[in-house]
Amino acid sequence: MPFGLVSAWNKRRRSKSEDHINPWVYKPVECWKIDGSAPPAKRHHGSAVFTLKEMEEATHSFSEQNLLGKGGFGRVYKGTLRSGESQIVAIKKMDLPSFKAAEGEREFRVEVDILSRLDHPNLVSLIGYCADGKHRFLVYEYMPRGNLQDHLNGLFVCEFCTTSQTFVLEDVLVLQQLPGIRELKMDWPLRLKVALGAARGLAYLHSSSAVGIPIVHRDFKSTNILLDNNFEAKISDFGLAKLMPEGQETCVTARVLGTFGYFDPEYTLTGKLTLQSDVYAFGVVLLELLTGRRAVDLNQGPNDQNLVLQVRHILNDKKRLRKIIDPDMSRNSYTMESIAMFASLASRCVRIDSTERPSMIECVKELQLIVYTNSKGLGMTLHTFRMI
Ligand SMILES: Nc1ncnc2c1ncn2[C@@H]1O[C@H](COP(=O)(O)OP(=O)(O)OP(=O)(O)O)[C@@H](O)[C@H]1O
Ligand SMILES: [Mg+2]
Repeated sequence: MPFGLVSAWNKRRRSKSEDHINPWVYKPVECWKIDGSAPPAKRHHGSAVFTLKEMEEATHSFSEQNLLGKGGFGRVYKGTLRSGESQIVAIKKMDLPSFKAAEGEREFRVEVDILSRLDHPNLVSLIGYCADGKHRFLVYEYMPRGNLQDHLNGLFVCEFCTTSQTFVLEDVLVLQQLPGIRELKMDWPLRLKVALGAARGLAYLHSSSAVGIPIVHRDFKSTNILLDNNFEAKISDFGLAKLMPEGQETCVTARVLGTFGYFDPEYTLTGKLTLQSDVYAFGVVLLELLTGRRAVDLNQGPNDQNLVLQVRHILNDKKRLRKIIDPDMSRNSYTMESIAMFASLASRCVRIDSTERPSMIECVKELQLIVYTNSKGLGMTLHTFRMI
């Protein structure tokens, strides 16, 4: 939980402001202060404010047909904004039990405040928000190819459907037998493209160019990497993000927040948050891309549930490396040289000692080299390489 935000929130509650009388009274984003030392906002391109009625109209009253997915904050719907030129968006509706409402409100404010200041092709854009009474909505650009995890773990496409609809179904065996339904599997160049895009997004967050001081995302994972039509990766969900005060490389947090399977062991043990915690989570995503397995798979035996523990000892062993490559990935899409380089990078990202992990800028540079090595090894033309 962002400590600065909590203290700001508590201070506001103690003050004789309107919030004290009714904490649900909403203030525009310009009036929020996440952190005592927060730098001046660079831009607020994502602060369009919508009404509850507009949210209902955009989603056909939150119909099941418009449902894109469900997460810890609530449901996400596809919607069409009709003000001016119609625009397709993704609308995240806060839906939390009352004991979690204050936590949700904090995440909502951090998300709006941070994301509306950011502008990068590898970060999802926030179009606006709605705070109507107790209702909270976040309105994002719509990402037609959904999240990365679905692509790695069974995404199906219907060849006979009129729209480019994709399906994620639990019952893989039944689905595979249906006519016209085929499983989509990403080949290696596409996986490298996604890794590079996500690395660029994180490197931007970690640099001071975003808001003047570095930002730790704290919930980097494959469901928070969204894909556009060209498989350009965009990072989403900034509700747990934390600004790192100037000159400070570590920040001690009151509670360890994030997602099981992506937790930096050092942060979990000490509560000390660093930019390198995101690098660890990035390494886990690299392993998901390489193996096609989940960060945590509860269907496996107790010793094989955690992906890092399962494969860590194999990553620098070129002979055994073949065994962990996603078997569903097209064999003629990768060279073993690029796989070995990728595995080596992943193994350094998930080192237990955070000081031994590379920075995100270093990850970007190495991934560029891996993309180049793979395309050269496969004899791809420079034109194809540029497309990646
Ligand atoms: N901008 C978007 N465009 C298209 N689909 C989206 C968008 N944002 C979210 N989704 C879909 O909605 C799903 C739920 O998103 P959400 O961020 O609420 O949960 P999550 O990231 O899966 O899990 P958690 O809440 O644990 O972080 C995503 O997995 C994704 O498939
Ligand atoms: Mg998410």
